Amino acid sequence: MALELRQLTLNDEQAFFDGMKDWPSDDLSWYTFAWKEGMGYPQMLEILRKENAGIELAPGRVPHTMLYGFVDGAIVGRVSVRHELNDHLRHRGGHIGYSVAERHRKKGYATEMVRLAFGYCKSLGIDEVMVTCSDDNVPSWKIIENFGGRLQDRIWDDEDEEMIRRYWITL
Ligand SMILES: CC(C)(COP(=O)(O)OP(=O)(O)OC[C@H]1O[C@@H](n2cnc3c(N)ncnc32)[C@H](O)[C@@H]1OP(=O)(O)O)[C@@H](O)C(=O)NCCC(=O)NCCS
Repeated sequence: MALELRQLTLNDEQAFFDGMKDWPSDDLSWYTFAWKEGMGYPQMLEILRKENAGIELAPGRVPHTMLYGFVDGAIVGRVSVRHELNDHLRHRGGHIGYSVAERHRKKGYATEMVRLAFGYCKSLGIDEVMVTCSDDNVPSWKIIENFGGRLQDRIWDDEDEEMIRRYWITL
């Protein structure tokens, strides 16, 4: 599959803003954590650079890399890679979180992005990847189980008021 997973560069401004149109403005966290209304693209890249390097992290945040999935030059989704776990991520979030825009779903893109993200995790020295998802998010836990995910447990998440699943995958 011709999917490329990588960090954004200065040349990706058009693709980034085009890809954002696939997401409702009140639910942009599935697309970006860094960009806020009115922010310039270079400014956002600087935030991503610092988060990746662990510079000036907000309280409770760990170093983090946002990788975008490109198909034919267009962004179809993203994977967020947390370089380490803290208590919050151990409860919910884990090492990676992924999303694919609705119109690009069911084509195997998330599966391919996760596969490539595991290579990135390995390059960071992560051998055991924690992944969490809602108990009823069938496509998400299918992906996790297809990669050999071992269910740690199912627990109640007070914040989102739902059952979640916590898995581990050995790379
Ligand atoms: C979860 C998500 C990333 C899956 O993206 P995708 O590109 O459609 O996933 P894939 O095409 O790689 O399919 C993954 C698996 O889920 C299955 N699947 C996809 N959509 C499905 C659906 N609606 N119901 C049941 N299974 C589904 C696929 O058949 C595949 O399983 P298989 O390989 O065993 O056949 C996407 O639905 C999404 O972005 N959802 C919102 C954000 C989210 O929930 N992210 C996960 C957070 S943990």
